[in-house]
Amino acid sequence: MNCEVLIEYNRLVTHRLCIIPGDGVGREVIPCAVEVLRRVVPDLEMVEAEVGWDCFTRTGNALPEATKAKISDCGAALFGAVSSPSRKVEGYRSPIIQMRQHFDLYANLRPTKRLEIRDWRFGAQFRISNLQSPVDLLIVRENTQGLYAGRERMQGDEAIAERVITKAASARIGKVAFELAQGRERKQVTIVHKANILPITDGVFRDAVREVGASYPDVTINELLVDTAAMLLASKPAQFDVLVTTNLFGDILSDVASVWSGGMGVAPALNIGTNVAIAEPVHGSAPDIAGKGIANPAGAILSAAMLLKYHWQRPSEAARVEQAVFSALESGVCTPDLDGKSTTRQVTDAVLARL
Ligand code: NAI
Ligand code: MG
Repeated sequence: MNCEVLIEYNRLVTHRLCIIPGDGVGREVIPCAVEVLRRVVPDLEMVEAEVGWDCFTRTGNALPEATKAKISDCGAALFGAVSSPSRKVEGYRSPIIQMRQHFDLYANLRPTKRLEIRDWRFGAQFRISNLQSPVDLLIVRENTQGLYAGRERMQGDEAIAERVITKAASARIGKVAFELAQGRERKQVTIVHKANILPITDGVFRDAVREVGASYPDVTINELLVDTAAMLLASKPAQFDVLVTTNLFGDILSDVASVWSGGMGVAPALNIGTNVAIAEPVHGSAPDIAGKGIANPAGAILSAAMLLKYHWQRPSEAARVEQAVFSALESGVCTPDLDGKSTTRQVTDAVLARL
């Protein structure tokens, strides 16, 4: 099917979505994103499912089989966040990592657009960002390998984690990056790695991505070591278009980049594989603010917009949602993480009012 036919087809089918709020602020922000989705896609069919720490303590399973079945059935899910202990708990493994591996969600798309809060009372980061040319970048993170392969063990006194990188997985994430770059204005891909210190693993990654890039002559390819990339993302982010990198580097760099759009509360993400897509805000369960009604719903709402844009091929609805979120925040209706005084409810209402 060509693109127009696919878009028309997607307009006619009823979309199905599995809602997975998880723990902490996930339960506060996901209902807001659902309200917004209902507004732009009124016939959306939804089912709810459970995952996370709370689910684990009640049932002994952080990712029940019933949840996996619902996700497969819908083909799309909107996940909030889970709380994961930072010590080993027998039988527990972060369900988002499990979901990424189970559904082979090999690409994690994490865009950052500069938020221009016009009110100069807000934090220094926005003042700096207002002096910059526009930030509009996309981090394409390999989502199944690297240090997330889950191969950690003790061997005598040595604590060992294996960092697994294959040529096939590197080529497949490279293809996602180049395909997406081709559809963007600047058509530029920066490969981020640490091949000076990890010449075998990151050498495989870098070379496989470069090889794929050879089939995209209109896309410019650059390379950066991850530490330099972090510095440039923090100081001169406007130069970047698409960045492609391994799992852990992508995790860290996307948190750095998120500062330009207002921080963790605003950053969206979409995990994609061959059959299933799971949207999730980049942030965690935020136990420090959970239950207070002040979590920023923007990251969750923008993640839902990514499902519209990339999974359901409804770019105009996605753009409407994105504009409504940015317009609400830029008008000063912001939660405390953006130095505002509004609640989760008020920000959601401001977004809904703009749709
Ligand atoms: P976090 O992302 O939960 O919080 C980091 C900081 O950002 C905190 O100050 C928090 O208040 C703030 N923040 C996060 N989301 C926000 C929102 N929507 N609105 C306003 N402020 C927000 O990361 P942290 O504290 O390192 O981890 C807390 C828990 O979350 C841990 O158990 C961790 O394992 C889990 N986690 C889960 C993730 C997931 O489910 N995908 C991702 C990251 C962490
Ligand atoms: Mg992270």
